[in-house]
Amino acid sequence: MPADQKAAKYLTRKEAALELKRLAAEIARHDKLYHRGDAPIITDAEYDKLRQRNLEIEAHFPQLVRRDSPTTNVGAAPLAGFKKVQHEEPMLSLDNAFDDEDVAAFVRRVQRFLSLGPSEIPEFIAEPKIDGLSASLIYERGKFVRGATRGDGTIGEDVTQNLATIEDIPKGIQTSSPSFEVRGEVYMELAAFHEMNEHAQRVGEQPYVNPRNAAAGSLRQLNPQVTARRPLRFYAWGWRDVSDLMPATHYDGLMQLKDLGFPVSGLIARCQTVDHLLDAYNVLLKNRSQLNHEIDGVVYKVNNRVLQKRLGVVSRRPRWAIAHKFPAEQRQTTLEGIDIQVGRTGALTPVGRLAPVFVGGVTVTNVTLHNADYIRGVGADGAAIRGGKDLRVGDTVVVQRAGDVIPQIVDVILEKRPKSARKYHFPETCPRCGSAVARELEPGEEGVIARCTGGLNCPAQAVERLIHFVSRRAMDIEGLGAKQIEEFYELGWVKEPADIFRLADHRDELMTREGYGEKSVTNLLASIDARRAPDFSRFLFALGIRDIGETTAGVIARHFSSWDAFEQAVRAAVKARPGEAYEALTRAPGVGDGARANLLAAAHELKAPKGDLFEEAEPPKIKGVSAKAWDGLIAAFGSLGEAIAAIKAAAKHAPGEDYLELGRINGVGPVAADHLVDFFAEKHNTDALKRLLKEVTPRDEAKVATSSKVAGLTIVFTGTLEQMTRDEAKARAIALGAKVSGSVSKNTNLVVAGPGAGSKLAEAEKLGVEVIDENEWIKRSS
Ligand code: IVH
Repeated sequence: MPADQKAAKYLTRKEAALELKRLAAEIARHDKLYHRGDAPIITDAEYDKLRQRNLEIEAHFPQLVRRDSPTTNVGAAPLAGFKKVQHEEPMLSLDNAFDDEDVAAFVRRVQRFLSLGPSEIPEFIAEPKIDGLSASLIYERGKFVRGATRGDGTIGEDVTQNLATIEDIPKGIQTSSPSFEVRGEVYMELAAFHEMNEHAQRVGEQPYVNPRNAAAGSLRQLNPQVTARRPLRFYAWGWRDVSDLMPATHYDGLMQLKDLGFPVSGLIARCQTVDHLLDAYNVLLKNRSQLNHEIDGVVYKVNNRVLQKRLGVVSRRPRWAIAHKFPAEQRQTTLEGIDIQVGRTGALTPVGRLAPVFVGGVTVTNVTLHNADYIRGVGADGAAIRGGKDLRVGDTVVVQRAGDVIPQIVDVILEKRPKSARKYHFPETCPRCGSAVARELEPGEEGVIARCTGGLNCPAQAVERLIHFVSRRAMDIEGLGAKQIEEFYELGWVKEPADIFRLADHRDELMTREGYGEKSVTNLLASIDARRAPDFSRFLFALGIRDIGETTAGVIARHFSSWDAFEQAVRAAVKARPGEAYEALTRAPGVGDGARANLLAAAHELKAPKGDLFEEAEPPKIKGVSAKAWDGLIAAFGSLGEAIAAIKAAAKHAPGEDYLELGRINGVGPVAADHLVDFFAEKHNTDALKRLLKEVTPRDEAKVATSSKVAGLTIVFTGTLEQMTRDEAKARAIALGAKVSGSVSKNTNLVVAGPGAGSKLAEAEKLGVEVIDENEWIKRSS
């Protein structure tokens, strides 16, 4: 193997020396190309790879580090991550105001706190809230010595070298203060962001979703040279001065920062009344789309610093400032088509294809249209949406997206509707397999769901299930993704999960296919073999049973510990499940759970009513069963006699203990239990499972680590995590015995919020739920 392909630890000393020489020259060449202003000829990722390799070799052969080593050239950023630094004073967050009344209430709070009369309003300033990430810059005797990210507000990361690459940030300032700190926002201009993403796409790299993420990702590069290539900018919005040499008002202070060389927003307004604040807000809102960077609201601050001090801070938020958030951004675009996606469970979801539009910080090209009613202009509750306007291909639509909320179509511009636009007809048959489409109303789900009735005969469903089976959160089979599954399915090699583990039978044929070589086939088969003993919970989740998500699968796995125990329990539940006669009773109107239980308890005593058909018989008296309930029963079954017969039949088909037991497991519930039972009641499912269990053996689930700090907590993850994926964080939480939820409620114990956290974070703050950042999460979960 050539030296440049060998891992660092396998290099000989001589090879290592030659590699270091080659890398030093190559990296220097790229640096030069870049700094001369020429277009770089390699991508940032490739450049990073070169530096990374150089570092690895140096780590193995420290005695060979060259004098012209690229590592020493840039002052060597630590690879393991950034040094942590404690802020001299915590970096605070802001409370949010969402409407005019919130703003008025904020001003009243300030007045009350300062014991001012209703007409005595202190001066405020209104500044744009720049959508970036905050940074702290420390100047000692006027020299920029340290820069840090906000981190959790108390401890941030030392990104001095990266901040030093930002031109907007002065490296030296004229001040007599021995220690002066400037705080502000690192952001990326829109044009630069788009350009960077276009470049990323051209070279096949993952683009950033929005300018804020791009700025954060760029600032948190381990290699400052990468940061240097990113078009980052800075706006100052605050300061801290040990010598207290700064002016008495925030406004004058910002002007002084400007004189010192820091960029300060030119859109700052001084306000004397609530109306002034709202005017400033409206002006910024109106001009928002003309700005060259994103703003997500306006920050109002009490101008006088003495008053600021008096007002102080409450739970890490200053009483003297508030962020007035902009409403979700809206943009117009055209609806170019409506596609139908067939999901794993056969649900047919219409998806709107949009002409790409940049809204709310991301480019939107697809938008879910939920169901046929939604397209018609009818909401889940039957009420009109979009003023009852239907959606037609060719329509100009208004798209909205706020924070981390999924984009939606909020309106249709009828005046722009082309003459050719036709009403949309929801398919009656599955577009993939032609099976009939059934409509069902699901509790808890939106509106009417159209489902393909083809089951596993529908290639879309079969393929989606297989894709789910191998996916990262499920069996996590490396090298096997949607593309390969579709190919193998078409070839008839993989029709069900068990087939994946028999793919080796097609080894020779596979090797002759385009894109596969001996090595890749060997790797693929090895990664399949590596999953023959999956975790119980992953395996169960991988089966793709309705309502058995990762969390529920985890709960079940921990409850039963072994797969065999679980299967035995579900099979017993299948036998004990209620019969149709019982289900019929549950559907009778006006018969609640209590009345039903009483009816069933008395069933054996009930007698068919006397008298003939023409005589109105009185229903029997049973405690806890009202006349209204009897009316419902008679209405459902046709006559009192039929109703009594139905009750007797229901009693014979009532659910048994084994069935009820399953639904009582904490964290599973009757609906998910029902779906489990449905799955195991189908012979074709249990047959396929039997074949699969010949190939794989789920491992017993480890007992919950109850000593963990997070055991028993309900945790919500929101925003971007930077050191682990959200899936990984969730898996870790579940493994430690926590419950993971998708939304914040009063039952939430902990919210882990990364950058970009939006409404969930706001909700948590409103409910007083503890919020921690990723670093703290790692601490608590390791
Ligand atoms: S003042 C105590 N001013 O918004 C004052 N913050 O949601 C704290 N931000 O962490 C911040 N523009 O990163 C302030 N003009 C501005 C701002 C601003 C953006 C960010 C900042 C802060 C976050 C709070």
